[in-house]
Amino acid sequence: MSKEIDWGQVLEWDKKYIVRTFNTQEEYSPVPIASTDGDYLILPDGTRLLDCFNQLYCVNAGQKVEKINEKIKDALDRYGFLQDAFTTDYKAKAAKMIIEDVLGDEDWPGKVRFVSTGSEAVEAALFIARLYKNRPLVISREYAYHGWTSGSSSVTRLKGSRSGITEDKPNTTPRNIPGQHNGKVAIAPSPNCMRCSLGHTYGSCADENGELACVKYTRRMIENQGVEQVAAVITEVTQGAGSVHPPDEYIPQIRKMTQDLGILWIADEVLTGFGRTGEWFAYQHYGVEPDIVAMAKGISSSAIPAGAVVVSKEIAEFMDQYRWETVSTFSGHPIAMAAVCANLEYIIEENLVEKARDTGEYFRTKLLELQNKHKIVGKVAGNGVLWIVELVKDEKMTPFIEIDRNYTHESDPSLFPSNIIREKALEKGVLIGGVMPNTLRIGTSLNVSKEDIDKAVDALDYALTHLESVTLQEQ
Ligand SMILES: Cc1ncc(COP(=O)(O)O)c(C=O)c1O
Repeated sequence: MSKEIDWGQVLEWDKKYIVRTFNTQEEYSPVPIASTDGDYLILPDGTRLLDCFNQLYCVNAGQKVEKINEKIKDALDRYGFLQDAFTTDYKAKAAKMIIEDVLGDEDWPGKVRFVSTGSEAVEAALFIARLYKNRPLVISREYAYHGWTSGSSSVTRLKGSRSGITEDKPNTTPRNIPGQHNGKVAIAPSPNCMRCSLGHTYGSCADENGELACVKYTRRMIENQGVEQVAAVITEVTQGAGSVHPPDEYIPQIRKMTQDLGILWIADEVLTGFGRTGEWFAYQHYGVEPDIVAMAKGISSSAIPAGAVVVSKEIAEFMDQYRWETVSTFSGHPIAMAAVCANLEYIIEENLVEKARDTGEYFRTKLLELQNKHKIVGKVAGNGVLWIVELVKDEKMTPFIEIDRNYTHESDPSLFPSNIIREKALEKGVLIGGVMPNTLRIGTSLNVSKEDIDKAVDALDYALTHLESVTLQEQ
């Protein structure tokens, strides 16, 4: 099939007609892909790349699962398109599966609203939280990534991902979107213990009741804003794009704090949901229950765009009393709903959540071996098939790129150790993930084989050895 494609023409049209992101036109260098297979991307010349970015940590079941493709074809043949006011077997079953089959052991979930993307799921979560509490303010955190649309980008705080523009020249000021910062949002600290922005050291930052300094600060912040102003705290459970894995106490303490203060907790599980961390949802590692969950990506293993927001029974009862005057043309699209049903069935039948949990232990062992071997690996954290590797200059954990997670794209990306590693690992046929300058992220499908993990770790070993040789020479 790929032999019939004129790849020269493809690249020409791509460069000429598509508005680029993250690159100027001059910088842009497209990577053509002919096909995919499981955890692999296949280039037009037949080269196979192991995708440890899992695209954007979203192809949970792996590429092109036959069962999912079959159901998509069935929905296409039977339904074509029907808007949200009509009921289809796939839409009703997708909602039932999320509430009963995926979350059936928990008391809190009430109802689902389907959308098409993660950003929309976050938008819907913010709308519902503000309507339910009838309060304007939402608390987000440093380094948060919640999406690119207006509301979701107002709670996104990673400087390099707020949908503004930067020039291809050093020392220029990024142009943020005028007005974007005016959303009713206040920013709490991230639980980034490696470089605590409050200046604390993990292990000695808790008060006499065990409350972490960053949670205490968040609580005080909310009290200072006025609790009566605050609808919700929104958190990723593990920060995905920002690449921060919280200490174990953090999420339970945030949840307790929101309950103490009578505000909602929105868990953004767009990236961490549907088995990625070795539980259906990452919050389940911590024995807590949220009020609202935003989900997308793994909900359909990205075979077709789909997203959802799940609200608690109380919020569902509240919404049931009103006419919620909002439309989304593609909400509950039959093809997307077929993909959701088939994807969830497949994950359940193949025990992929348990598999990801076991795989996580294998990842942990292998990555800790790398940490023991390479001085520049300062920290390894994660679970399931989502891992973070922090690169440091020395034993004091000095980052190579000082500005670290607060970088914007006017920084020179060729100096980022993460980019140097990524380029080197490609020589071994492995695509390593992550967008932060000093942090690698490794994520695969839940179905990844041990052989492929070994291949990824070998490539990382090779790339770390290279980076070490370059940086040790410099010192
Ligand atoms: C935690 C989180 N929330 C929201 C989003 C936005 O999802 P989408 O890109 O589908 O709009 C993302 C995307 O990466 C994400 O990681």
